[in-house]
Amino acid sequence: MNRFAGLAIITLLAGASGLSAQDTEAGKASFAICAACHGTNAEGNKALNAPALAGQESWYLERQLKNFKGGIRGTGADVLGAQMAPMAAMLATDADIENVAAFIAALSPASITHDGGGDAAAGQALYATCTVCHGAGGEGNPELNAPKLSIQQDWYLVRQLENFKSGARGAHADDAFGAQMRPMAMMLADAAAMKNVVAYIVSLGN
Ligand code: HEC
Ligand code: HEC
Repeated sequence: MNRFAGLAIITLLAGASGLSAQDTEAGKASFAICAACHGTNAEGNKALNAPALAGQESWYLERQLKNFKGGIRGTGADVLGAQMAPMAAMLATDADIENVAAFIAALSPASITHDGGGDAAAGQALYATCTVCHGAGGEGNPELNAPKLSIQQDWYLVRQLENFKSGARGAHADDAFGAQMRPMAMMLADAAAMKNVVAYIVSLGN
């Protein structure tokens, strides 16, 4: 390798480390509390109503943690979100939030439970609308602020659709992104439609 190539690589490496300023070791330490409900590998725990987090995008995790902390999510009729709000409040600074989100995002996605019934074939047609934002594979789209769905447990996806439809989530005046999702949940006529679309999403794998 000549001297210039060596310099170029050093510059690239320095640039790359500058991009990921998050401290995943510190994030791992914070995650010890979270693991009590979300599981050691952030796989989720249905009995505790705590969703999977492993492999979710860090920007989405950060936004939700800030929403819980700021009272934008997890208030009023959202009784399960209310259990999460004080946990987010324990992350004192934005850096604490970014560190734990970076740690979680780097974990391998959990194996997904499919115990909520539903007809995946019927759900496929319903999912056509969702692909615009969440992607054909449920991989999410940062430019449209839409999270990954493919890493998530089915029971949690159904519950969030119910929450968006009822306004337990996404109705706060400062929840601009939740407000984009609410009309989509309203397009799902009933509980059966929600279960069907979710059965299709979990069939996509992660
Ligand atoms: C006491 C149990 C409990 C603990 C401890 C806990 N959570 Fe949660 N968390 C929940 C529940 C329950 C929900 C689901 C709320 C709902 O249904 O809307 C949740 C939801 C979330 C969400 C939203 C996920 C999504 O897809 O929208 C994130 C992010 C999250 N928790 C991160 C954390 C982090 C990080 C910690 C540790 C600092 C933590 N949680 C600690 C119970 C807990
Ligand atoms: C216009 C873009 C758009 C479309 C179309 C859309 N969504 Fe969303 N969805 C979003 C955004 C943005 C969020 C994140 C809201 C937030 O930050 O709280 C979201 C969040 C969600 C969540 C919550 C995930 C979690 O981890 O808590 C679920 C579930 C969901 N969408 C399912 C669907 C389904 C099913 C459809 C089709 C019926 C759909 N979405 C169509 C933009 C969209």
